[in-house]
Amino acid sequence: PRYWLIVPAAGSGQRMRADWPKQYLRLDQRFVLDITLSRLLDNAAFAGCMVAIGPNDQRWPQTDASRDRRISTCIGGAERAESVLAALDALSDRTREDDWVLVHDAARPCLHPDDLARLLSELQDHPVGGLLATPVADTLKRTGPGNHDVEATVDRRDLWRALTPQMFRFLALKQALESAIDSDYPVTDEASAIEFAGQIPCIVEGRPDNIKITVPADLALAGFILKRT
Ligand code: C5P
Repeated sequence: PRYWLIVPAAGSGQRMRADWPKQYLRLDQRFVLDITLSRLLDNAAFAGCMVAIGPNDQRWPQTDASRDRRISTCIGGAERAESVLAALDALSDRTREDDWVLVHDAARPCLHPDDLARLLSELQDHPVGGLLATPVADTLKRTGPGNHDVEATVDRRDLWRALTPQMFRFLALKQALESAIDSDYPVTDEASAIEFAGQIPCIVEGRPDNIKITVPADLALAGFILKRT
């Protein structure tokens, strides 16, 4: 099977309170999206790459990636899962059912090449696929619904933070996303859709510094992480 890359970059990034989405913030003059894509495509494994951009995206033509022939674009949807599904549809005439698809957030420019390589090699013979994740470091509390009274401390020993890339078979991922969206199941990552479809994703431990740029302080942190790797 071949390997395809999908990068959902159609978010509006409202939590950043910036004038434009977080994938178009700059680090050392470069767009976050360009950094993310060049780190992914440094790995030679990919047959092609589909980036889902917003319907009114004016900035994509300004990116270095827009001049890279390995990369195509499609219009994303209102939710991340719909953007990924749109990208799967856009790839469908070039893919086979059992090809692998890696989905990686545009807003995670700090993916380490070793983590990407390990995800690919550890899951290459896996029947379902899986994701990078990192153990939870903080103590976790559960409150009662709608209040701040601590009900319990959650045992964190078996808990992980889901990161990206997430890697699944083309047809399995497409069908899982379609049925999860149809059922209004809250799909926050690809793995949750796969689980909803009754399959069991495998976790590959990744570095905790593969952060998603969400709030303004994350941009400075990403700059710091990128200088070390
Ligand atoms: O908003 P969140 O941090 O979950 O976004 C994760 C990734 O999904 C970002 O790269 C964002 O651009 C993308 N996204 C998308 N389409 C949406 C919402 C988010 O492609 N409708």
